Amino acid sequence: MEARKRILTGDRPTGKMHLGHYVGSLKNRVALQDEYECFFIIADLNMLTTKPDKASIEQIDQTAREMVLDYLASGIDPEKSTIYLQSAVHEVYELNLLFEMLVTVPRLSRMPSLKDMARDAGLTEMPFGLLGYPVLQAADILTPRAHLVPVGKDNLPHVELAAEIARRFNYLYGEVFPIPQGMVGEVPTLVGTDGQAKMSKSLGNAIFLSDDAATVRKKVFSMYTDPKRIHAHIPGTVEGNPVFIYHDIFNPDREEVEDLKRRYQQGKVGDVEVKEKLARALNAFLDPLRQRRACYEGQAGLVDEIIYAGTLRTREEAAETLRLAKEAMGLSRVFTRISRRAERRRKKLEQD
Ligand code: TRP
Repeated sequence: MEARKRILTGDRPTGKMHLGHYVGSLKNRVALQDEYECFFIIADLNMLTTKPDKASIEQIDQTAREMVLDYLASGIDPEKSTIYLQSAVHEVYELNLLFEMLVTVPRLSRMPSLKDMARDAGLTEMPFGLLGYPVLQAADILTPRAHLVPVGKDNLPHVELAAEIARRFNYLYGEVFPIPQGMVGEVPTLVGTDGQAKMSKSLGNAIFLSDDAATVRKKVFSMYTDPKRIHAHIPGTVEGNPVFIYHDIFNPDREEVEDLKRRYQQGKVGDVEVKEKLARALNAFLDPLRQRRACYEGQAGLVDEIIYAGTLRTREEAAETLRLAKEAMGLSRVFTRISRRAERRRKKLEQD
């Protein structure tokens, strides 16, 4: 049997994941677990590019566990997939350096995501490491020699850069890497509960995968809807209305959704009913996630064990990749030749 193709993707351990992460990327990851051999990275080194302080590093344990619980709750199965801690795989640092030679500074400077990240982190000047963020991400993707990278839309340019690096490496040294491809979920950008911007933890407009039923209900009831509708009998707009966007994505009862939309447009339904039904649908969607989360949380040390085993497994794969890369470059042979000559000399001196 031909070996399965591989997926690598992951996230920086910066906090709880929300519905936007789920529809943008997590859902794809869960769905592709059988077809692909999957590696999921806890990208703590990528996090250091904007948060190198010691306090952030001390929090990694905690934030990594939270993030992995979000993965497991979403249905990522540790029996099938490998979850690992980036900073514990030293080959990533090494590949990163080798790849740095294959990219130009102007190419990196044109990445809009990096300027956004610098701004969001309150940095007035671009750190060298942050400029290299997409190179590090390429090292991540190519560590297990991945073919497919399910990511959020904003990460697609990084995957494209990883593909360029893989092509350039193969061209210069020989075929070592597959050319990785990005993949975005059915809902590339999910609007936040405020209806103003994409769902994001920092904007306070997110519904988290770990929110309990009462919290979800409360968030839904404070959601932005059609501002023209000061009374239930005023006809409202469905298009672009976040309440209906969520209904379309998360409410499997199509008939109910169509009926609500019709009555909303005619001014024959109150926001309370629309929101009550949305809260119910969202909680029904989240219930299986809550059950899986509780199951993993209930077994002390299990999440650590999953990360530990996944990291050991990834180290093996990473060592093989680095060996292949250095071999193709002829880099490993330089020191082999030097050491051979040096040993010959030592032996000769011993004999004399
Ligand atoms: N850049 C991703 C983020 O925005 C995290 C990440 C790091 C990643 N390395 C990766 C994603 C490799 C996909 C593949 O959080």
